[in-house]
Amino acid sequence: MSSPSEFDQAPRESLENSTALPCELSDVVKQSLPKHVAIIMDGNGRWAQLQGKARVSGHKAGVKAVRRAVSTASQLGIESLTLFAFSSENWRRPDKEVSLLMELFMTVLQRELKLLNKNGVRLNIIGDISRFSERLQKQITTAQAKTKDNTGLVLNVAANYGGRWDIAQAAQALAAKVASGEMSAEDVTEGALNKQMSMQGQSEVDLMIRTGGDYRISNFILWQAAYAELIFTETLWPDFDEDVFKQALITFASRQRRFGLTGCQIEQIRAL
Ligand code: IPE
Ligand code: IPE
Ligand code: MG
Repeated sequence: MSSPSEFDQAPRESLENSTALPCELSDVVKQSLPKHVAIIMDGNGRWAQLQGKARVSGHKAGVKAVRRAVSTASQLGIESLTLFAFSSENWRRPDKEVSLLMELFMTVLQRELKLLNKNGVRLNIIGDISRFSERLQKQITTAQAKTKDNTGLVLNVAANYGGRWDIAQAAQALAAKVASGEMSAEDVTEGALNKQMSMQGQSEVDLMIRTGGDYRISNFILWQAAYAELIFTETLWPDFDEDVFKQALITFASRQRRFGLTGCQIEQIRAL
């Protein structure tokens, strides 16, 4: 292999190198919180492996981290939290792991419902759930119905989700409308497509975090994360706690989001 490129050697802002672990977020950070946070919860298997345990114990520990993340997001008043739980590619895993994940998903849906309601969390499953068992589909529908009037955090759980699937299903919906004469081909705009995408009506994803040390998107929200700030952390998902979450929020608050403008333009807008 060749020597590391200058890109590999470039200093990176890193959650791991940060010295000050937060207890309380400062007012400045609180004023710059993202409205919508999405997380690729990766590293369960490696976490289990490090402990000499089966991968499934990593997934079980991952559920506890989900509970912590939901609680932190709720307490901070974040509007939407989107968690990548099972990708459209995860079916390729060994059958045993897939069925264990399905079992876990069902148990968690049942067990956590009370807590979600207590905390005013609205559950919204995104993804192609038609591939799940009838029983799981029913549980998903029931859980969503039972939390639908909650007005706190919106918790989107991506299950059998793929970013490409999402764009394709949105395009299909518009194509059907064009075919039926309900709309014309010229009406197929970014805005029209956007209305068909999962999570439409919620705030744009401001921050996307990936745990587990890999630097990729793995077919997660390709459309919705178009302008999200990206934060990658080495922390394995089962170790993701309030401090790591808050550290990510501090990093987010320190970023200048320019949306195509120049830094100078942004400063001028801020000064208004
Ligand atoms: C993420 O953890 C959970 C799912 C994809 C369901 P992994 O199971 O991918 O854990 P690693 O990446 O193998 O450590
Ligand atoms: C992404 O993790 C999917 C979820 C977190 C559910 P993976 O572990 O499946 O991603 P790859 O395969 O390493 O890209
Ligand atoms: Mg993984």
